[in-house]
Amino acid sequence: MGIFHGKRALVVGGTGGIGLATALALASRGAALTIHGGNSAERLGRAIEQARLAGGGAVTGFLHPVQAPVEDAAASILERTAKINGSPDILILAYGPFKRCTVQDTTAAQWRFLAEHNLIFPGIMVSLAIHDMINRGWGRILLFGGSNTAEVRGFTTTAAYSAAKTALGTLAKSVARNAGEKGVSCNVICPGLTDTEYSTAQERKYNRERSPGGSAMAPEEIALAAVGILENPAFNGSVIPVDRGLWV
Ligand SMILES: NC(=O)c1ccc[n+]([C@@H]2O[C@H](COP(=O)([O-])OP(=O)(O)OC[C@H]3O[C@@H](n4cnc5c(N)ncnc54)[C@H](OP(=O)(O)O)[C@@H]3O)[C@@H](O)[C@H]2O)c1
Repeated sequence: MGIFHGKRALVVGGTGGIGLATALALASRGAALTIHGGNSAERLGRAIEQARLAGGGAVTGFLHPVQAPVEDAAASILERTAKINGSPDILILAYGPFKRCTVQDTTAAQWRFLAEHNLIFPGIMVSLAIHDMINRGWGRILLFGGSNTAEVRGFTTTAAYSAAKTALGTLAKSVARNAGEKGVSCNVICPGLTDTEYSTAQERKYNRERSPGGSAMAPEEIALAAVGILENPAFNGSVIPVDRGLWV
């Protein structure tokens, strides 16, 4: 019986990359899992099968692309999850689109997209999902920041993405202050440069060359940190780099 036996987990963006590795780690520790994906039915099917093999009890999943208005997507994803698996005790928000652009060349549309998908969408999901967690007296929320967004700093080519990701620290700390005493934790992991099935050859080269030790992070390394944070209620409102000391 795993440490998350009896807990219902929702992983948003759980069909690939870091989200998938985290979903599999939760399944292997006994959580009843709902895996959310964006567009690929093939990846969703594979993720559900892998999670079942990993030892998960109930494993379900669905696709729901996050599009504007993101509040509708947030509400629909939680409603669909509640119908098939109950409202989540553990909420993992892994989906977080990335775009590289200098601050002087970032368009209004890019600012809006990156802020909506990386900050407003997670913010609304947390605000909606937290009520049931508070009422039950137990909840775990995990957000994903960007590389090196654990502190306020400048970025040469990712200002809009990194600004939204840095703000997730305020969201997590606000949950800790409002709901920590009710048994709810919220933390942010800031992964290092991580190769996933979505990474292009150019991104893999960049990740390899910039990462300490000369190799990119693997999603499983991030997932291992994630389960440790979810397991331990002493983490609350924490913003935690999991990046081998990366400085980009
Ligand atoms: N990879 C890195 O180097 C790195 C570094 C620092 C931080 N991060 C952060 O860590 C988190 C995970 O990153 P990642 O690189 O593993 O994966 P990701 O590309 O952010 O997420 C992949 C997941 O999101 C889903 N998805 C894609 N487009 C979607 C849409 N429009 N609506 C809803 N879902 C959609 C994918 O489903 P489909 O496959 O069906 O599209 C898949 O399940 C993100 O928040 C990211 O910003 C990543």
